[in-house]
Amino acid sequence: MSLSIGVPREVYPGEKRVATVPDVVEKLIKLGFKVSVESGAGDHANCSDDAYRAAGAEIVDSAAALWAASDIVFKVRGPSSEEVGRLRENGALVSFLWPAQNPELMQQLAARKATVLAIDSLPRQLSRAQKMDALTSTAGISGYRAVIEAANAFGRFFNGQMTAAGKVPPAKVFIAGAGVAGLAALGTAANLGAVVRANDTRAEVADQVKSLGGEFVKVDYEEEGSGGGGYAKVMSEGFQQAQREMYAKQAREVDVIITTALIPGKPAPKLITAEMVRSMKPGSVIVDMASEQGGNCELTEPGQAVVKHGVTIIGYTDLPSRLSKQSSTLYANNLFHLAEELVKTKSVSIEEGTVDTNMDDDAIRGLTVIKKGEITWPPPPLKLAAPPAAKPAAAPAPAAKKASGHGHGSGEPMSIKAMTILFGVGAILFGLVGAYAPAAFLGHFTVFVLACFVGYMVVWNVKPALHTPLMSVTNAVSSIIAIGALVQIAPPGIVQSEIIRGLAIFSIVLATINMFGGFAVTRRMLEMFRK
Ligand code: NAI
Repeated sequence: MSLSIGVPREVYPGEKRVATVPDVVEKLIKLGFKVSVESGAGDHANCSDDAYRAAGAEIVDSAAALWAASDIVFKVRGPSSEEVGRLRENGALVSFLWPAQNPELMQQLAARKATVLAIDSLPRQLSRAQKMDALTSTAGISGYRAVIEAANAFGRFFNGQMTAAGKVPPAKVFIAGAGVAGLAALGTAANLGAVVRANDTRAEVADQVKSLGGEFVKVDYEEEGSGGGGYAKVMSEGFQQAQREMYAKQAREVDVIITTALIPGKPAPKLITAEMVRSMKPGSVIVDMASEQGGNCELTEPGQAVVKHGVTIIGYTDLPSRLSKQSSTLYANNLFHLAEELVKTKSVSIEEGTVDTNMDDDAIRGLTVIKKGEITWPPPPLKLAAPPAAKPAAAPAPAAKKASGHGHGSGEPMSIKAMTILFGVGAILFGLVGAYAPAAFLGHFTVFVLACFVGYMVVWNVKPALHTPLMSVTNAVSSIIAIGALVQIAPPGIVQSEIIRGLAIFSIVLATINMFGGFAVTRRMLEMFRK
């Protein structure tokens, strides 16, 4: 007998996703599971019954029969009351659940004496958990779709264009909250050619914003925004006041605002006031991705797209479902990795058809919110490696220099002893050359040594990201040196052989190509860093 996984049709109105797709069914079967899918479960995600059947799944006609036959049920949305009634005693359920927000549902599920794994309770900090992280994959899709919805409602191009009919400026997009969804939205909007800015209370995301081609807009108020575990916290009244002023300025300037700001277990912070909406240009668009948790904008109507003061405010709560095939595929992959972990941690016995989640495993412990009828949520805090000690307020100068990337390129600065030896050996060699070489050579040699030293010091302080463009600049510089060297070999006035003259002309031609080529490549590469 092998353990059976059942995938019912989602019953939440308008939900188009499905918890597994045919490709993943094949992989689950290879792992040893038996897979059943309710007829029509994948219809809205472009997965037909035939495709599931071809992958090896059994198609079951009714939901009741499917729940009754499944040891583990894979679902997207939390179960309805009717579905709770179908959950088998000693069976298991895996789905989104949000235990903090749904205490009643938790009680109903516990009464069924089943085991429940809430995919949203995964300890995301564990690196092993990343492949199961459905919150991240879903947030990425939502961020992408939010931009597509905004572009759809916006009456202009996102990218700037120079056409015969006139010049079109690029759209300006402001992103409030640069977590997973915000960064996905930022990347998508930047790829469409918009000018993108973003803000977040967690200062550490500034670099991520920049690396995706956005500008990080700071609030003019010093306060640490991290509330632990990579999440945000509720900010002080002083910060909120300063933030409102900055947001009001952005609202007047930009064409599109996408808000994603959330604080775990708290209502979404209200960042965009009715007054700010009124100040926006007519035709502007706001996509409020926090609308399900109360919204970041005062005028959002959850689930709706409304026009207020000439601004379209989109509060859709089904953004992932609007890309149902993509969402279902990524979610199915997340659940496949979970199934692998269940097997690896001996949380299931495929041969005996039993589920007994391994509470000694951090990832499985976090996911298990009900075990055989007993509520096990919230889990104890994770024992992770101690975080690095907080930076002292005023770091001593040398440390600060090293942190800002001005130290030795390979990380460790050279010790005083090594430096003394190096300089000592250099001075002896120089002395020997000076004693025996002709005077003219010594002049060139001195310039050469100094050039090497300056070049070394300059190159060593360049950030790794700029090494490639730097290479082409040095290439060009080396060409200039080559020309200089040729002139030195045969100074004007001295009779030259035709061979040397020919070689010199040939070298100059090559060096010129190298020089101009080097600068052209540098320019193209630097363009990639510009916005
Ligand atoms: P989220 O959906 O809870 O919040 C979205 C964003 O809103 C966050 O970046 C938050 O800082 C921001 N925010 C909250 N209040 C705000 C305010 N008043 N003004 C402006 N911004 C505000 O968070 P999400 O996207 O699920 O994850 C947040 C972070 O969690 C990630 O950026 C990452 O650092 C961490 N994370 C870590 C993972 C890992 O370790 N593997 C996996 C996933 C997330």
